[in-house]
Amino acid sequence: MAYSDNDRFPRFGKAARVVHLTHLVSFFVLFLTGMSLYFNFLSPLNLIFGGANAAKLIHRIAALVFFFGPVLAIILNPKGFALVLYQITHWRKEDFHFIARFFHKFFGQPHDVAPQGYLNGGQKLNTYLLGFGCLGLAFTGFVIWFPEYLPNWLVLWCYPLHSLLAPCLTAVVLGHAYLGSFHPGSGASWEAIWGGSLSRAFAEHHHAQWAQEVDIKLGRVKR
Ligand code: HEM
Repeated sequence: MAYSDNDRFPRFGKAARVVHLTHLVSFFVLFLTGMSLYFNFLSPLNLIFGGANAAKLIHRIAALVFFFGPVLAIILNPKGFALVLYQITHWRKEDFHFIARFFHKFFGQPHDVAPQGYLNGGQKLNTYLLGFGCLGLAFTGFVIWFPEYLPNWLVLWCYPLHSLLAPCLTAVVLGHAYLGSFHPGSGASWEAIWGGSLSRAFAEHHHAQWAQEVDIKLGRVKR
């Protein structure tokens, strides 16, 4: 079989795509309701949600989607989760090569990057930041949600930690959103979120090593 420029590269299953989108929406709702609860000057935002009490309730409902969505995706697609776990716990010299040239890439400067695998070095780092950020917010959030069952000192620590983690995670999410959507040449990665696969041009440019592995696995060879 000869490869064609129209070949697609299967990337995300249905569960991962649905969860990515619900996670994005629930994060946005948590961010808006969280800000309106924290900053007095933003309290008029509460009117959109139907008042302060409604904003608190919506924050809790969005938190359930935010937390249990990924849990459900892991249950539905353990293989996909195992792949990501494998990727982020196996660093190769190409990953560090990518990270060392990150700022050249970010600011559109000329640079050479070693062929990257399924996740590039930056995506691996980002997975840690997002993962720990979400887990931290979920942990501190559940603690302040159910203070009556937990030691007082823990609840007292979790309030400021929750408020501190919120802007930190927001910064990481904004960086992730910019790099995946608006950075020149990256917008096409949305094809994997909507349809599950990437074009040959994108796969070969951003994940050359992985694209080669997929071609071999699918029995596609170069003309
Ligand atoms: C599973 C995830 C989460 C849970 C369980 C959770 C839970 C909570 C709870 C119970 C509160 C107290 C609300 C009240 O005053 O009654 C709260 C406040 C807040 N949350 Fe979350 N939350 C989560 C995720 C997030 C995210 C992703 C953000 C922002 C990016 C966020 C930002 C905030 C902020 C800024 C406050 C106000 C804190 C304060 O008043 O000191 N939360 N959250």
